[in-house]
Amino acid sequence: MAKADQLKALLKSHFEGNDSHFFAVAMQMAAAEAKRGHGKLAQEIRALIDEAKAKKSAPVSSLPIPITTPRGELSSLLSVSYPKLRLSDMVLLESVSERLKRLIKEQRQIKKIRSYGLMPRKKLLLVGQPGTGKTMSATVLAGELGLPLFTVRLDSLMTKYMGETAAKLRLIFESLNQTRGVYLFDEFDAIGSQRGLLNDVGEIRRILNSFLQMIEQDTSDSLILAATNHPEILDHALFRRFDDVVEFGLPPKELIEQTLNNKLLQFKKKDMDWKRLAEKAEGLSYADITRACEDAIKDAIIHDREEVSTEDLLKPLQERQSIRKK
Ligand SMILES: Nc1ncnc2c1ncn2[C@@H]1O[C@H](COP(=O)(O)OP(=O)(O)O)[C@@H](O)[C@H]1O
Ligand SMILES: [Mg+2]
Repeated sequence: MAKADQLKALLKSHFEGNDSHFFAVAMQMAAAEAKRGHGKLAQEIRALIDEAKAKKSAPVSSLPIPITTPRGELSSLLSVSYPKLRLSDMVLLESVSERLKRLIKEQRQIKKIRSYGLMPRKKLLLVGQPGTGKTMSATVLAGELGLPLFTVRLDSLMTKYMGETAAKLRLIFESLNQTRGVYLFDEFDAIGSQRGLLNDVGEIRRILNSFLQMIEQDTSDSLILAATNHPEILDHALFRRFDDVVEFGLPPKELIEQTLNNKLLQFKKKDMDWKRLAEKAEGLSYADITRACEDAIKDAIIHDREEVSTEDLLKPLQERQSIRKK
């Protein structure tokens, strides 16, 4: 790719706040320089990228948490981020994108809707196999609405505070009232498992009941999202408490092609055999496809190639397929 295009791509990803894209283009520029025989410059660019990446991945707790209740306690229950991802960064089934767009629209008009005594949509249950975009959708909703994303680590909440989980949940719901944000209860199965399946039935039931009650009573302006890989073990009483249930699935062929296109960034060759690639990727999740593309790109970068060919991508896709079958 020409230098001018790289520069434009670099600026664009910077303005959009798309870090992963930004780093990928920067790495690509380093590869291009290395190829031109500018080894020192290439090395310097890579060192700069490494340094910036190390800074970016500083622990979450170093970010200011805009919560007024005791910082120490809440920060062990919630992790916060300020995502910039947008809906256009995702490749989605029509049924999923329609639901997400509807929620965004209602949330953007929250004052107007509330002024008529109505509640905008705000409680979503996200259901589907791993790697199909549930967590990413929560991130995108926060990004689109300019809200912080608070992720509740339910599994650690339950193991760490067995016996006090309900009290901790109450604390989270208080913060939900105080600080508007997107609250994601990830790996929701930990709490939502059908009452009776687990050993400590009493405790689970108490937690589940108080969670149901808190959802029901919630009148905050925050969004409540719960994500699960196992809808079949969820109690049906739960489904009714949500405004919408969004079902995520593996991408069909057309969307596989779009995902590959999207994830290869500027690295794709002009004459990619999309049909063959889509066939090879069928049955893989978005996460698998993303990994395969990243592997192919990394391989290109390591060998100072500027492009990824169909053959280069078939191999990591095959690898993902084998892992999946295991
Ligand atoms: N619909 C999508 N469009 C583009 N990339 C996706 C999509 N879904 C998932 N991904 C990629 O896969 C990764 C894992 O997805 P994630 O949202 O964590 O899956 P889940 O929470 O359903 O297990 C994401 O970080 C992203 O790179
Ligand atoms: Mg997830």
